[in-house]
Amino acid sequence: MTPVGCCRCRLPLHPSFPFFLSNQAFAPLLAGQDTTGGAALTEKPFMPGYQVKVETLTIGGAEYQIRSLLDLQQFSDPDGEAERLGISSATWPLFGLVWPSAQVLAAAMHTQPLEGRRVLEIGAGLALASLVLHQRDADVTASDCHPLAAQFMRENLKLNQLGPMVYQTGHWAGSNPALGQFELIIGSDVLYERDQPEQLAGFIDCHSSASVEVMIVDPDRGQRSRFCQAMSARGYRHHARRADCQLPGGQAYRGRFLYFLRGDASTSDPLPG
Ligand SMILES: C[S@@+](CC[C@H](N)C(=O)[O-])C[C@H]1O[C@@H](n2cnc3c(N)ncnc32)[C@H](O)[C@@H]1O
Repeated sequence: MTPVGCCRCRLPLHPSFPFFLSNQAFAPLLAGQDTTGGAALTEKPFMPGYQVKVETLTIGGAEYQIRSLLDLQQFSDPDGEAERLGISSATWPLFGLVWPSAQVLAAAMHTQPLEGRRVLEIGAGLALASLVLHQRDADVTASDCHPLAAQFMRENLKLNQLGPMVYQTGHWAGSNPALGQFELIIGSDVLYERDQPEQLAGFIDCHSSASVEVMIVDPDRGQRSRFCQAMSARGYRHHARRADCQLPGGQAYRGRFLYFLRGDASTSDPLPG
């Protein structure tokens, strides 16, 4: 894939990406600075080697404060932990931005029928959809492979005065038996590398209950067909529909909802077919 707009990152930027960033209401902050008052300024600032920002996002009419990386240029891996997990400097910052698809998935989770289902978010990054579900008291587990994902999630729970939420490492190339099985599996913008369709389908299959609904928001990056084939080969029925919409900040979004079903599960897609 040809990189667009970012020299270090192989992930093509979504067409709405520049508008998405320019529309945010935030002041860039050095990580470790106190955002709530002056008390922490007397302490030695924690300097992790990357910069962050805090922005306000509106999802389903509610406002969320979200701490994210400043931009796609951020990178810090002093102990080589990310490298050992197969995360290159180019892909390191991907977890730490709110991608447009995350807003679409989070908005869907605001009204998603849950019916007591356990929910797993895969490749959660900043876990926006999980935060919305958690705010609804859902039984939700966020997962990712990035060494900093849990830390950013904790910060965002605090910023939004939310209690603890379950996070588990979930590397699609490995296994985490502690993760368990789920009746609803969700993800946004998780298909952008050639090896991901097969890995992700295998990971989802490992963590699916006998009856499961899988919902992925995909911004048309190009691995969708191979992922659908990999899921079909594992016995999942699937359908898709366009998710094109205007994001709360006014930016145009283009992408698809991908739905996969197994067992007795029926789709919660409001417009199936
Ligand atoms: C483009 S970001 C999307 C993040 C978030 N879902 C969103 O829409 O804002 C892709 C996410 O997938 C995660 N990811 C990529 N490869 C992974 C793997 N093999 N196992 C687990 N997570 C992975 C990255 O760490 C990152 O958080």
